[in-house]
Amino acid sequence: MVILAAGRGTRMYSDTPKVLHQIAGKSMLAHVITTATKLNPQGVYVVVGHGKQMVRATVDANVQWVEQNEQLGTGHAVKMALPYLPKIGKTLILYGDVPLIDEETLQQLLQAASDNEVAVLTDILDDATGYGRIKRDEEGNVCAIVEEKDADNAEKAIREINTGILLLPNVYLSDWLNALSNRNAQQEYYLTDVIDLAVKNNIKIHTVAVRAHHLAAGVNNLVQLAQLERVFQQMQAEKLMREGLTLRDAQRFDLRGCLKMGRDCVVDINVLMEGDCILGNRVQIGANCVLKNVQIGDGCVIRPFSHLENCVVGKDAQIGPFSRLRPDAQLEDEVHIGNFVEVKKSTLKKGSKVNHLSYIGDATVGEQSNIGAGTITCNYDGVNKYQTIVGKDVRIGSGTMLVAPVEVGDKATTGAGSVITKYCPPNQLTVGRARQATIEGWERPEKEQK
Ligand code: UD1
Ligand code: MG
Repeated sequence: MVILAAGRGTRMYSDTPKVLHQIAGKSMLAHVITTATKLNPQGVYVVVGHGKQMVRATVDANVQWVEQNEQLGTGHAVKMALPYLPKIGKTLILYGDVPLIDEETLQQLLQAASDNEVAVLTDILDDATGYGRIKRDEEGNVCAIVEEKDADNAEKAIREINTGILLLPNVYLSDWLNALSNRNAQQEYYLTDVIDLAVKNNIKIHTVAVRAHHLAAGVNNLVQLAQLERVFQQMQAEKLMREGLTLRDAQRFDLRGCLKMGRDCVVDINVLMEGDCILGNRVQIGANCVLKNVQIGDGCVIRPFSHLENCVVGKDAQIGPFSRLRPDAQLEDEVHIGNFVEVKKSTLKKGSKVNHLSYIGDATVGEQSNIGAGTITCNYDGVNKYQTIVGKDVRIGSGTMLVAPVEVGDKATTGAGSVITKYCPPNQLTVGRARQATIEGWERPEKEQK
């Protein structure tokens, strides 16, 4: 199996190699490799050229990289992989910029031809501009593929096109590739010219028509990339809905990764999920939330505009609106996190509550404790991070600064506005703030009257 990915992608107007542009958060090339790998091929050879260092560094996959240092055409690209291909069997040619090709289509192609025959994946388009056209003889047998730039008007009128995806017999491959010439409009070694050679060798050429256009659609510019992104998102959304997910609007849901969920989860509009997200049963996600690598327990309610990343939430927790859970936030069952609360690298034990305008970082909060509005764990001295430990059933007064490292004992209370720098013993009220004083006889200065 050979994946062509050496082209520049001029029309992307981008410094990123074309095949690294993403569909649903994953490069087009990675999509193709994932699909290719499902077929259990003997080897996956990816031909890279333009931006090859970046491509190789970005795509983390178990493939063989083949370099094509000058992009002299698709035929030349496959020739670069020739030394690595076995002498028998067949070689499937895929494109790194045709990202939505699926296993089913490739299986159809593989089954269409024997080891000594050719199969071409075709499509029929209303507007075939830009594609190689499939030429057939009177009996309907394929006799050539003519590139747009080499086609006469009659050939240009053909709507049956070469998607580029081909299955070729290895026994002939080396002869055919070495026989290609670049005497054509683009002065390139066209892979499609092997069809001519196959015809001359009396080799049967089969065609398989794709079930849907998007499967073989190539990306040449950012408009096409966006179109395939929508198609892919719609397919994912439909699959999730068929598995029991309620999406309030499937067109306003984006998944860039993998979502697993239990029963009766509901996702409101404009939600983005990334990485691996796992939802239990009956989880509700409000509008405009962003979730990345999260695990959310049964019965949780995530209210609108919340942002959760790399965190774990137990059952029946309530989060948001406008909450932010940063990496390593661990929320046990029934925790409540309210608006404008940020939690980082902290464990909030069962039933604890942080409902308003607070920052909890590098902390542990015990069961059933309540953190008052505007509380901050002062965890950072500019160099080091320190821990705050709050026991169970604690009441932290509003506006408390917990200057870490510091500990608050079980059932302790802190007075509102306290700056807590030392241990707060259990069961008692600790207040750490300037006492209020009223200055008698004080007069407010007045402006002089003009
Ligand atoms: C190619 C086909 C055309 C088909 C179309 C489908 C040929 C000659 N033409 O045309 O029949 O309808 O695809 O989209 O094959 N590449 C390399 N090295 C090169 C040249 C290209 O790796 O030297 C890679 C590109 O990165 C791309 C693929 O091959 O992934 C196709 O190349 P491109 O230049 O886009 O071919 P088209 O002119 O579109
Ligand atoms: Mg192309």
